Amino acid sequence: MGREGAILFAAAGAHVVVVDIRPDAGAEVVDQIAGGGGSAESHVVDMTDLDQIERLVSDVGKKHGRIDVCGTTPVPRGRAGSSSTATCGTSRSTSTFVRRCF
Ligand SMILES: NC(=O)c1ccc[n+]([C@@H]2O[C@H](COP(=O)([O-])OP(=O)(O)OC[C@H]3O[C@@H](n4cnc5c(N)ncnc54)[C@H](O)[C@@H]3O)[C@@H](O)[C@H]2O)c1
Repeated sequence: MGREGAILFAAAGAHVVVVDIRPDAGAEVVDQIAGGGGSAESHVVDMTDLDQIERLVSDVGKKHGRIDVCGTTPVPRGRAGSSSTATCGTSRSTSTFVRRCF
């Protein structure tokens, strides 16, 4: 699901920050996007780990200035009622940069 979303956003002209816990999986999506003429980069992050998510968002924010859309299927451990939207909305650094989450 993440791969298909990434490809769709890239086809619409977005620079896509692909995140996966497996380096090969993220790199494969980036290659697929680049092969279609799109723009993407990959980061190895465990999306159930809030500290890693905050580091990622901080790094991406510093590099690109903002994140327009954030989509994720894995959710962080240890937060009651966590959802993909809550992941972005409650994260300290994400609230600075992220405009839309799903
Ligand atoms: N495929 C569907 O039609 C469908 C429909 C509804 C819901 N879902 C749900 O969406 C989610 C993803 O489904 P999928 O079919 O794309 O699975 P998938 O196995 O094809 O892809 C999941 C990707 O997430 C990565 N990943 C796993 N844990 C991670 C983590 N903690 N941090 C970062 N990356 C991680 C994996 O390495 C893999 O590349 C699942 O929870 C699934 O139940 C899928």
